Amino acid sequence: MKLAFFLTLFSFGVSVLAASAADWRSKSIYQVLTDRFARPDGSTTAPCNPVGKYCGGTYQGIIKQLDYISNMGFTAIWISPITYQIQTWTPYGEPWHGYWQQDLYQLNSAFGTADDLRALATALHNRGMYLMVDVVVNHNGWNGNASSVNYTMFKPFDNVEYYHSFCNVDYSNNTSIQDCWLGDSNVELVDLRTEDTVVASEYQTWIQQLVANYSIDGLRIDTVKHVDTAFWPGFGEAAGVFMTGEVTNGDPYGLCPYQNYMDSVLNYAMYYAATDAFSSTAGSMSKFVSQLNGMKSQCKDTSVLGSFSENHDQPRFASLTSDMSLAKNIITYTIMGDGIPILYEGQEQHYSGAQDPYNREAVWLSQYNTGAPLYTHTASVNQIRNHALYVDGDWLTYQNRVIYSDSANVAMRKGDNGYQSITILTNNGASSANYTLNITKTGYDSGTTVVDVLSCEAMEAGPNGNLTVSMSQGLPRIYYPVELLDCSGICGY
Ligand SMILES: *[C@@H]1O[C@H](CO)[C@@H](O)[C@H](O)[C@H]1NC(C)=O
Ligand SMILES: *[C@@H]1O[C@H](CO)[C@@H](O)[C@H](O)[C@H]1NC(C)=O
Ligand SMILES: *[C@@H]1O[C@H](CO)[C@@H](O)[C@H](O)[C@H]1NC(C)=O
Ligand SMILES: *[C@@H]1O[C@H](CO)[C@@H](O)[C@H](O)[C@H]1NC(C)=O
Ligand SMILES: *[C@@H]1O[C@H](CO)[C@@H](O)[C@H](O)[C@H]1NC(C)=O
Ligand SMILES: *[C@@H]1O[C@H](CO)[C@@H](O)[C@H](O)[C@H]1NC(C)=O
Ligand SMILES: *[C@@H]1O[C@H](CO)[C@@H](O)[C@H](O)[C@H]1NC(C)=O
Ligand SMILES: *[C@@H]1O[C@H](CO)[C@@H](O)[C@H](O)[C@H]1NC(C)=O
Repeated sequence: MKLAFFLTLFSFGVSVLAASAADWRSKSIYQVLTDRFARPDGSTTAPCNPVGKYCGGTYQGIIKQLDYISNMGFTAIWISPITYQIQTWTPYGEPWHGYWQQDLYQLNSAFGTADDLRALATALHNRGMYLMVDVVVNHNGWNGNASSVNYTMFKPFDNVEYYHSFCNVDYSNNTSIQDCWLGDSNVELVDLRTEDTVVASEYQTWIQQLVANYSIDGLRIDTVKHVDTAFWPGFGEAAGVFMTGEVTNGDPYGLCPYQNYMDSVLNYAMYYAATDAFSSTAGSMSKFVSQLNGMKSQCKDTSVLGSFSENHDQPRFASLTSDMSLAKNIITYTIMGDGIPILYEGQEQHYSGAQDPYNREAVWLSQYNTGAPLYTHTASVNQIRNHALYVDGDWLTYQNRVIYSDSANVAMRKGDNGYQSITILTNNGASSANYTLNITKTGYDSGTTVVDVLSCEAMEAGPNGNLTVSMSQGLPRIYYPVELLDCSGICGY
């Protein structure tokens, strides 16, 4: 009996241990572009031209810099696609980003060996951290135009019959979005017929092996809206781990339905609204609030969406404004909003690259400065999130409720029954004058002592739990009951 039980556990070991959406909900993710994060030689001076060439980052490099990531409070990393790429120089340079794969069954040797990748998974797991791998299923990469594609180069899809015939994407036509080719005549992204059962089943076989071979805990899926939706449930079941998908859609009504096909999507709707609200002192706070409420009403489960304010495809926040207080506000929102926070490497160093590829700077050139203002800020915000979700199991699934807003400020409550945090954000900017906000509907009992964990200033909630909040220098605030901070190390408690 015991042996049978053990054998069952063993043979299904992968799926038993696999990390689900519920497991990921409490994580906080640091997005690594493998080539641009850390070199195995530990160099902090090796030049890296963002345009085109491999810069030398590897899995062994990441292992050496895990303290830098975990000391910021992150509990998972997302790495670049790991598969074999176009091998030749293209008009857009080398495929150091990993989005131009040709062979699903070989690794990109520029990032290290299979053993190096497994060593990274082990190093993460030893710290209680998760490994998320970026995965592309919509297309293969081809260095050239559509008529020159040599299909026998691709593995395992080595025949033209597995692919859609060439057409350029017409974004006003949903069939075209799914069936036509991304890329251009310099580098074509040859589009798979994912609606074909042979293609779908081959992809399922592959992802099941990939997850098992490298102990992967979760997947970030590229170009999800370019694949037929019916493909995803079978793929997700084969993967057996959490998936979050890239669907570039700023409309809750267009974005949320994807949660019917996979666990999670990256929250592009809030990305656009938050960027608009916080990148300028004239940004629209009312659109931010209505978008937040729209996501709550349209999405199945906002607590597992990927919450981000930068990534490798969008201009960095600091390319829109150099104001440090605004940068602190949007990071505070990213981590304290609903969903799984994702910070893009270099955001903590206030990197300011604009359009791709200039937003893909090497992190080592910052010397991994752990004293940088946004590094310490991110650490503080992750720390209170990690603490709040530990103290109260329901904190994560309580959807942020906007309890106050005006044209430049918003206060959000997350949590209930005395365990709530109150996050106050503003786009007034670093040079704004001091002012006071009177925040009601906090749900605190009158007389509760709360601490702004960012400034460590304590105060007492007034009658009805009202908070009289002094705002200064455009900085955000996160209030949390002092009695729940015991032994947390936060603000010396
Ligand atoms: C496609 O590329 C091939 C090989 O480089 C070239 O000979 C051909 O002229 C190109 N066709 C078009 C339509 O550009
Ligand atoms: C196409 O690719 C295959 C496999 O790499 C190779 O053997 C063949 O020579 C290529 N054909 C052409 C026309 O380049
Ligand atoms: C939409 O795109 C598909 C695929 O390219 C095409 O076959 C179809 O004719 C297009 N429909 C319209 C209305 O343009
Ligand atoms: C997984 O490992 C097995 C055994 O080494 C190998 O045959 C298979 O090709 C690997 N699959 C992938 C996707 O890495
Ligand atoms: C196209 O897809 C979007 C997003 O899923 C959806 O909102 C829209 O209704 C679709 N349009 C048509 C014509 O089917
Ligand atoms: C908040 O209350 C204080 C008195 O406690 C008052 O002076 C101030 O004007 C109020 N601020 C707002 C924005 O209502
Ligand atoms: C607390 O806020 C409520 C709602 O605005 C208000 O009615 C009440 O007077 C406030 N109490 C105090 C003592 O400020
Ligand atoms: C604004 O508030 C800060 C922090 O509370 C304080 O140090 C500063 O003196 C205030 N500035 C003015 C002009 O009152």
